[in-house]
Parts: sequence; structure tokens; C-alpha cells
Amino acid sequence: MAGAYEMLAADYDWMFDDDELANGRAINHPATARLLQRISSTSAVLDAACGTGIDAAALARRGFTVRAADASEAMVEGADARFRRERLAVPVLRSRWADLPAATGERFDVVLCAGNSLVHAAGRDAMVEALTGLRRMARPGGYVVVDSRNWEKLHAERQVVQVASRVVTRAGRRCFVLYAWEIPDRLGDEHIAHLVFIFDNDGQVEPREYQIRFRPFAISELRARLELAGLREVDTDFDTSRDRYAVVTVTT
Ligand SMILES: C[S@@+](CC[C@H](N)C(=O)[O-])C[C@H]1O[C@@H](n2cnc3c(N)ncnc32)[C@H](O)[C@@H]1O
Repeated sequence: MAGAYEMLAADYDWMFDDDELANGRAINHPATARLLQRISSTSAVLDAACGTGIDAAALARRGFTVRAADASEAMVEGADARFRRERLAVPVLRSRWADLPAATGERFDVVLCAGNSLVHAAGRDAMVEALTGLRRMARPGGYVVVDSRNWEKLHAERQVVQVASRVVTRAGRRCFVLYAWEIPDRLGDEHIAHLVFIFDNDGQVEPREYQIRFRPFAISELRARLELAGLREVDTDFDTSRDRYAVVTVTT
């Protein structure tokens, strides 16, 4: 799945406004924010699905000792470029979640799989394997946080087109993003998100489309898989009415 991100990486940051780029995204959602407030601000944090490094950079600016990883080469390059530009000491590793324990001997107080990334571990076995890799990256008693879109809500509402609430203007260019979803009848079947970036280059409209395929899961399935991977839930902000949630777990 990381393949789809090789192309998307170049335009990825256009999905977010300047406030999100400066302050981070998933790390500010309630359950994850509660955890980050509770632990020492010098704790070691691994952002294991760092994308272009938005959350990892925000955490490093807050004083955490941060490492970043991602399976996509282009995403890793984007994250590394961000850290260098901002003079942040955040080493980046290209690795799948399942391969992380063999890729580095470092272990962490908090391991993040945020920004709706785990959905790319398609199906029960792949997800348990991924979560086991993430669990093994945590120190004894450490935390693993999974942050996800509320797939059951998306599936029930079937809102096929979703338009970003604002236009992003950056370096003289304007862009707005819309999502078009292909939502099959069954939650566990393959869904496709068409991400359309519409650039306004001085009145010339330039659309660019990327397709992301994934197999959503219900929170009950996530909970069962966390348990199989040796992770015990200690906090969540799940609510059927909210679009996203995180589950905070500890190693057992
Ligand atoms: C939706 S993006 C989220 C990125 C970032 N956390 C954010 O919030 O902007 C999902 C990320 O998961 C990564 N990914 C997908 N499968 C992966 C895997 N098996 N191991 C590690 N990273 C993976 C992709 O390359 C991509 O960067």
C-alpha cells in the first residue's frame, strides 16, 4: 500500500492548513493529547507512520525525543526534508511496522500509529502482525497509540463526496482538496478514496488525482486485534458521533 503514497507525497501537505503544519494533527486529538500531556516532555516517541513528518516535527518542537518511520520512500524523504529545513534532530527510518523491531534496537515510551494509517494493514492477520511490530517497539510499560477514522460512521453515512472546508494558499499557489469515496456494501471489503487536489495557478485550474485503497475495520475488530498483539486499552476518545478516534494501549 505504501506504493500509493510514493506519488501522493509530493502534494500531501496541501491537505493541511498552516496551523496543522505548525502544531501537528492527530497528536492534538483528545485521547492522544491527554497521553502526551501526562508523560514527561522529554519522553522518547516513535512516530511509526510519519508521512511527511508533520506530527513528528511538532512533537520535536515540544521537546520530546522523536524518531520517525514510514514504509514509503517518498514520505520518508519528505519527512527528512522537513526535519532538515526546521533543524530538528529527528532521524528517519524507512520500515514497515512489522519489520521495525529488526530494523532498530531503539525502544520508546510512546509509539504512534496515527493519521489513519493502520487501515493499510489490510485484514486481521496483517493488522495483528503490524500491531505486534509496534508493540515490540515500546519499552516495557510503554504506550502504543492507534488513531483512526471512524470507519463505521463513514460507512453508515455514505457521504460520497467530501470537500475540504478551506482553500490553502502557499507560495503564491492556491489549492483545495476533495475526497470521493467508493464505498462497497460491506465494511470489510476494499474501499477506494479518490483524493483530488485542485490547484488554481493564476486562474488556470490543474486537478491532480490520487487513489488510496484500503479495507476498513470496526472498532470492535481493532480492539480484538490489539488484544491479540499483546496490547491493553487504557484510554480512548471513541464516540459514534465523531469522525475520528484514538485508542491508547499499554504493553501487557
Ligand atoms: C494517511 S498517511 C498518514 C501519515 C501521517 N501519520 C499523517 O497523519 O500525516 C498513512 C501513512 O502510513 C504509511 N504506511 C502504510 N502502510 C505502512 C506500513 N505497513 N508500515 C509503515 N508505514 C505504512 C504510508 O506510507 C503513509 O505515509
